[in-house]
This record gives sequence, C-alpha cells and structure tokens, in this order.
Amino acid sequence: MTIPATRPTVDAAAGIEIRALTAADAHWHLDGLCELLEDGVRAGASLGFLAPLARREAELDWQDLQPALSDANLLWIARAAEHIVGCVHMRLATTADARHRATVERLVVLSTHRRRGIAGALLAAAEREALERGRTLLVLDVDAAAEAARALHRLGWDAAGTIPGYLAGADGMPRDGTRLFKRLAPDAR
Ligand SMILES: CC(C)(COP(=O)(O)OP(=O)(O)OC[C@H]1O[C@@H](n2cnc3c(N)ncnc32)[C@H](O)[C@@H]1OP(=O)(O)O)[C@@H](O)C(=O)NCCC(=O)NCCS
Repeated sequence: MTIPATRPTVDAAAGIEIRALTAADAHWHLDGLCELLEDGVRAGASLGFLAPLARREAELDWQDLQPALSDANLLWIARAAEHIVGCVHMRLATTADARHRATVERLVVLSTHRRRGIAGALLAAAEREALERGRTLLVLDVDAAAEAARALHRLGWDAAGTIPGYLAGADGMPRDGTRLFKRLAPDAR
C-alpha cells in the first residue's frame, strides 16, 4: 500500500499540519475523528448521520473505513497543536470508465476552527494527490442550503445541479442536495 504524505505538510503561518492517514495509524486517531463527526452533526451538518450522534456509532463508522484505507481510499487530517481539527476523505473511482474521477466525502472542520483556511488546505492535499494519480475530475455532494456549499464555491467548485429531497439533514428532515464538481485539468475529458 502506498498511501502518500505520511510525511505531513505544515502551513507554518496557521500552525496547521495536514497528513494522510494509513489504515494502521487511523486507529490512533479514532477519538479525534469521532469528535469531528460529533461536532459536525451537532452543528447540523449533513455527514451521513442523524443527531444526536452516539460515540459508538461514530467509532463503528470510522472503524469500517479504517481497513479500507488504501491507494484508492484516502483520508487526510488537519492537526493543530496535536489535536485533530479537520478531515477529508477521497475515493478514487475504480471502474474502467471512471479512472479519471474521484469522489470527495466527509470534509469537516471543527466548528471552533472554521474560516481559517483548513478546508482549503485539506482539499489542496487531496487535489494534489488526485492529479498525481491522473484524476482530473472531483465530485462531491452537499446539502444545497448548507454554508459548506458556499465555502466550496469559494474554493473553486461548481454546481452541476440540485436534486430535491436528495438527503436527510442531521435533524432527519429532507434536504435538497447539490452535486459539486471541480475539474483539476480544464482541458482533460
Ligand atoms: C465546509 C467547511 C468544511 C469549511 O471549512 P473551513 O475550514 O471553515 O473553510 P476555509 O476556511 O478553508 O474556507 C474556504 C473558503 O470558503 C469560505 N467560507 C468558509 N466558510 C464559509 C461560510 N460559512 N460561508 C461563506 N463562505 C465560507 C472562506 O472565506 C474561504 O474563502 P476565501 O478563500 O475566498 O476566503 C466547514 O464549514 C464544515 O466543516 N462544515 C460542516 C461539514 C460539511 O457540511 N461538510 C461538507 C459536506 S462533506
């Protein structure tokens, strides 16, 4: 397995370290990863869970992902003062007709650490890696009404369209979902 960037990159100005997690080291960060999900869901983010998110449910979810971390399944964390403050997961498509594509999921930054460029730094790491692996198109689904959609727009993502009632919010109520995309190599098809 050749998960990249176990050598972390550090944004010295912000004191934020971005690093990719292997299946082996994800285990050691379980508490911090659970806290991130709990914090996001508590604040109403659509991250695949209903509120309140129990610690056990968050643990089981990360434990499901952990062994799957591989060349095709990448997870980056952002750390500030040794504490996990953000993460992003990227899945490389594996079918023969989609080997130029990757799906970004679970982009979340601790509510106390937002608007400091952390999501931008996490996505920059994912984009660099995507390009190195020949992935020129990224896609991501987001709650159409969420602030996240605005943040992603600022980060260069475009909306492909909105599907009414695509997902349920953390409160269980239906939400429209927007599919966002970002082309990393504008001339690529
Ligand atoms: C979306 C999210 C990850 C953004 O994280 P962040 O670290 O605060 O984002 P950044 O600081 O890197 O900001 C990136 C850009 O978006 C802008 N931005 C961030 N939050 C914003 C908001 N609430 N409204 C409008 N713009 C926003 C920033 O100003 C910045 O733009 P700029 O570079 O032009 O100044 C964070 O709000 C979050 O965790 N939300 C809950 C989880 C979620 O909904 N995830 C998305 C679905 S997977």
